[in-house]
Amino acid sequence: MERFVLILFPALISTSGASKSVYAQVGGRVVLKPPAINTYKYVYWRFAKEDGLQLAWRNHLGGTGINKDEPWTNKLTLPDESLVITNLQPENFGTYFCEITSGSQTLPIHSIELIKLNVSVSPAEPLLPGESLSLSCTADYRKKPEIYWLNPRGERIKNNQGTVTVRVTSQDDGMWICVVAEEKQVKMPVKVVGLSPAPLVPHYTSTSSPITVPCSIPPLITWEQIKAKGIHEVHWQFFPETSSGLISQDAQRLFSLSLAGPLSWKRDQPRGLSPARDPKTGNLDLTRKLARVEDRGDYMCTMKFKNGRTLNRTVHVEVLQIISSPGPHLLSGQQLNLTCSVGQPLPSDLHLQWFRPKQSAQPDLKSARLTIPEVSTDDGGQWECGLLQGETRLTSAAITLTIEPKLSVWMLVISCSAAAIVSLLLLILGLIIHRRRRRKMRHLRPQLCRCKKPKPKGFYRT
Ligand SMILES: *[C@@H]1O[C@H](CO)[C@@H](O)[C@H](O)[C@H]1NC(C)=O
Ligand SMILES: *[C@@H]1O[C@H](CO)[C@@H](O)[C@H](O)[C@H]1NC(C)=O
Ligand SMILES: *[C@@H]1O[C@H](CO)[C@@H](O)[C@H](O)[C@H]1NC(C)=O
Repeated sequence: MERFVLILFPALISTSGASKSVYAQVGGRVVLKPPAINTYKYVYWRFAKEDGLQLAWRNHLGGTGINKDEPWTNKLTLPDESLVITNLQPENFGTYFCEITSGSQTLPIHSIELIKLNVSVSPAEPLLPGESLSLSCTADYRKKPEIYWLNPRGERIKNNQGTVTVRVTSQDDGMWICVVAEEKQVKMPVKVVGLSPAPLVPHYTSTSSPITVPCSIPPLITWEQIKAKGIHEVHWQFFPETSSGLISQDAQRLFSLSLAGPLSWKRDQPRGLSPARDPKTGNLDLTRKLARVEDRGDYMCTMKFKNGRTLNRTVHVEVLQIISSPGPHLLSGQQLNLTCSVGQPLPSDLHLQWFRPKQSAQPDLKSARLTIPEVSTDDGGQWECGLLQGETRLTSAAITLTIEPKLSVWMLVISCSAAAIVSLLLLILGLIIHRRRRRKMRHLRPQLCRCKKPKPKGFYRT
């Protein structure tokens, strides 16, 4: 009977609230805390048994002693009453006991169960969407603690005793967390290959700005890893936006990446776009110095793998443009319509803002169309139209208007007419002189005949 009680005793202690479970992994670090105490004389830390191997002690004056023997060498520190263990090895897991004496009084011995956690992820290499991922989180303990996994979106995943197997999607990229007994969290990074940037964000540019269609492989993924996945083809396609604002289904292939030998781009229908110089860096962007209205549409960057899996990223490009009717060269007094648009209605969170030339008296307007009933020379200069999301300017287009003063035109007309009148008068005068000369000549002719030695005309020296 006595034996039985003795055997039961440690088990009773461990369930009596004076005991605690702490989870850690091999190689990890733990801080074992004693129960809350106001004053003490001595704190003793022991291993395996209440009166087992003494690991460390501390007194209220700050004096300490630490066990330096194997397997504890260079692992233990006692910065205060808490025992800190670093670089945990399998033999360091087990039960720790903390005994506290306060004057003549000895408090009940406190025990802490240090439990080994085994957390693993397979495969460790980056995955393609659709590939299978296994996560395992197990506690080496007879009483199984509650264990579950959280995916990177914080959702709890159904598991079988700490093991989870999922077919990954791009959303599974990120930090997975194993939660043990609602207190210990172990983070495991999982890499699912995807193309950047994040989808669904339209890319805004303007006819006064460069165009950059972004696409890249994530910075931590190398081409070697992608080749190891069996890369088969990489290309860019363009789906133009029709005038009705719909995206055409007919794709134009812009570029293909030649994968044999050093990576290099092959031009199919480049549309004046240039690919980033060195695809080896993972940057697959397409660029041009100025965007054009014909650039509106969807650009798709695709990677095909030999197992049939594909990665793709579609970038929707919107090009802001200012149209001036009747044109950029006007006479003062003419009606002017300035229209700023991306060719289709804007989403509700975006708005336009006009920036007029400094001297222009037009009020600042926010509508897509600006009508000026009679332009003046003060309206000449650079007009700008910004596309804003709240305070952020996404892009802006510009147009330079030249406006001739009406006055100078009238002056031109007057001076032209004056010149015409003068030349007419001169012409008439010339005619009169000519006629009079001819009449004179007729008078002189008989005299000239009688003349024997007519003097040669013109100047000459004597
Ligand atoms: C941890 O788990 C993995 C996979 O389940 C196993 O291969 C490995 O041996 C375990 N490690 C330890 C220390 O238990
Ligand atoms: C693009 O990728 C998605 C999965 O992310 C896939 O369902 C779709 O078929 C792909 N599209 C093309 C044209 O390859
Ligand atoms: C400007 O817009 C108005 C209204 O749409 C139109 O009646 C007018 O003809 C336009 N003027 C010019 C110069 O385009």
